[in-house]
Amino acid sequence: MLTEIVEPIKAEFEEFQRMYKQALSADNGILSGMISHIYASSGKQTRPMLLLLASYINGGVTLKSLNAAIASELLHLASLIHDDVVDESDMRRGNPSIRAAYDNKLAVLGGDYVLTTAMQYALETDDIEVVKVINVLGKTLSSGEIMQYNNTRQALFDEAAYYDVIRNKTAALFFTCTKLGCITAAAADKAVTHILEQVGMLIGLCFQIKDDIFDYSLNPETGKVQCKDLIDGKITLPLIYVYNQAEADVKLQIADMVKQRDVEKLRDLAVERGGIAYAEQKLCSLRDEAFGLISSLTPSDGTNSLKAYINYIVERQK
Ligand code: IPE
Ligand code: IPE
Ligand code: MG
Ligand code: MG
Repeated sequence: MLTEIVEPIKAEFEEFQRMYKQALSADNGILSGMISHIYASSGKQTRPMLLLLASYINGGVTLKSLNAAIASELLHLASLIHDDVVDESDMRRGNPSIRAAYDNKLAVLGGDYVLTTAMQYALETDDIEVVKVINVLGKTLSSGEIMQYNNTRQALFDEAAYYDVIRNKTAALFFTCTKLGCITAAAADKAVTHILEQVGMLIGLCFQIKDDIFDYSLNPETGKVQCKDLIDGKITLPLIYVYNQAEADVKLQIADMVKQRDVEKLRDLAVERGGIAYAEQKLCSLRDEAFGLISSLTPSDGTNSLKAYINYIVERQK
C-alpha cells in the first residue's frame, strides 16, 4: 500500500531516505552506538511522506522540501526517544527502546542530540518561515505532552480535553508537514495550502485515534508494549466514551479500575460498551471530512496518493 502511495514521488522519497541515513552521525562512541540502534529500525516514515506529497501537489519537491522532511522526521524521532522515557516503554519499532538498550539519562541526552540535528536541517533550508514553523511545532508537541500528563494525573474522562491533547501532541506534526510541504514547494498555491493544512490536521487526529485503538487490541504488529496506555492509567477515547455513557455506579467502578490498573476489565468494558466502535466511527468521520476537503482540489495522481495515504492511516495494522 505504501509503495502505491509514494509512486508519484518515488525518486524524491528515495532521495529523502538516502539523506535521512546520513542525517545523524557522531564520532563519540556511545552516541554512535545509539545512532546505529536508531537506524536498525527506521519506522514507517509517514510524516516525510506526507510533506513530500504536499510539495508534489504544489508544483514539485525542492531541496528545501527534502531538508524540511528530514527535520520533521528527526523531530518525530526525538519525541519518540523522549516519549519512551516519560512512558517508561521498553519496546519501540519492534526493538528495545533507547531507554531500554541504554538508560533513561542517555535517552534524554541522545534525544536532545536528535532534536538539535532536526533544527540543523530546518536551518539548512535557509528559509526563516520553515524555521519558525518548526519552532512553533516543537513547543506545541511539548505542550501537548504536558497537557496529557496532567490529564492522566487527574484521571480526566473528558472528550474535549482528549482532542486538545491529540491535536497538540500528534496532529500538529501532520499539520506542520503539509504546511512545510507547501511552503517549500516549487509553486505553492494559497488556497491549496489552506486545504492541505486542514487535511494534515485531520490525518493527525486519525493517526492518534488509531494508535489509541491499538492499545485496546492485542496486536504485536505495532512493535510496542501492548496495552501500555491502560497499564499507565492513560485514559483515551474508547474509555472516555464508555465512562460518559455509563450509569453513576458504573462510572465509579471504571474510575476505580483505572486507579487499580485493571487492564483486562477495562479492555472488556471498552469493547462490550461500544467504546472501540465509537472511536472507529470518529475515525471514519474524520477521514470523510478529509476526503471532502480533497475533493475541492483539482484531481491528480498527487491527490489520489493523498487519499490512499489517508486510507492507509485509517486501516493500518502497525
Ligand atoms: C508513533 O508514531 C507515535 C504516535 C504519534 C502514536 P508512528 O507509529 O508513526 O511511529 P514510527 O515512526 O512509524 O515508528
Ligand atoms: C507518542 O505518543 C509520542 C508523541 C505523539 C509525541 P504515545 O506515547 O501516545 O505513543 P506511543 O504508543 O508510545 O507510540
Ligand atoms: Mg506518550
Ligand atoms: Mg508512549
